[in-house]
Amino acid sequence: MQGTGKNLAAVAIFFLIIASPHLINLVYAKAWTGPTEDTPRIRAMADKECIESEGWMRRNHMNLLLSWRDAALRDTDRIYVNGRGERYDISLMRTCLGCHSNREEFCDRCHEFAAVEPYCWQCHYAPEQVAKEGWR
Ligand code: HEC
Ligand code: HEC
Ligand code: HEC
Repeated sequence: MQGTGKNLAAVAIFFLIIASPHLINLVYAKAWTGPTEDTPRIRAMADKECIESEGWMRRNHMNLLLSWRDAALRDTDRIYVNGRGERYDISLMRTCLGCHSNREEFCDRCHEFAAVEPYCWQCHYAPEQVAKEGWR
């Protein structure tokens, strides 16, 4: 069994090279902290529910927002009736950001993770953003 030591060393080196990205991640990767729904408005809710179910919102909020914009601006319809028959004002800032007032820890955190950059904030200004930067 001459050369076994050499073979083992080769296998070990091979393993280290293949595994190195994972090993580096183990040490340096920051845990992904998900979006947080913890805001004063949501804390005060008896039933902590979004406009539609959480899973549906996660998958479809972008389309919902675009259809809200079209409803409000093209059809002048400013009331949305959800699956539970509840009525909501069609407003990105007053309705969505009314509950999700922590835009940075909620919308932004998720979008950074997913590498999407909605351009909405060029015009729609979040209250916390106004408080920090003033109106531009
Ligand atoms: C170029 C500026 C601009 C950008 C960018 C923009 N909007 Fe708007 N949006 C407006 C204006 C102006 C209104 C009309 C406000 C009104 O009549 O109350 C509006 C109205 C809306 C409304 C209905 C009324 C309300 O108060 O919310 C929704 C919903 C909406 N926008 C969603 C979006 C979304 C989602 C995006 C990003 C995908 C976006 N907008 C990007 C300017 C913009
Ligand atoms: C009445 C308060 C309220 C309003 C208004 C509201 N939300 Fe929510 N939202 C919540 C709560 C509470 C949750 C988490 C619990 C749940 O729905 O199961 C949530 C969850 C979500 C989620 C899923 C988050 C995750 O962790 O997967 C998204 C996305 C979301 N909301 C986006 C929106 C958008 C966009 C709007 C406006 C169209 C909006 N919300 C309006 C209270 C609200
Ligand atoms: C649970 C994670 C999550 C949360 C929370 C979340 N988003 Fe998103 N959002 C996404 C993902 C993922 C996409 C991209 C989906 C795609 O491209 O199909 C997206 C896309 C969007 C888009 C379309 C952007 C584009 O350029 O196509 C808009 C508008 C948007 N989100 C608005 C919001 C707003 C407003 C909030 C906070 C009230 C919010 N989102 C919270 C995950 C999230």
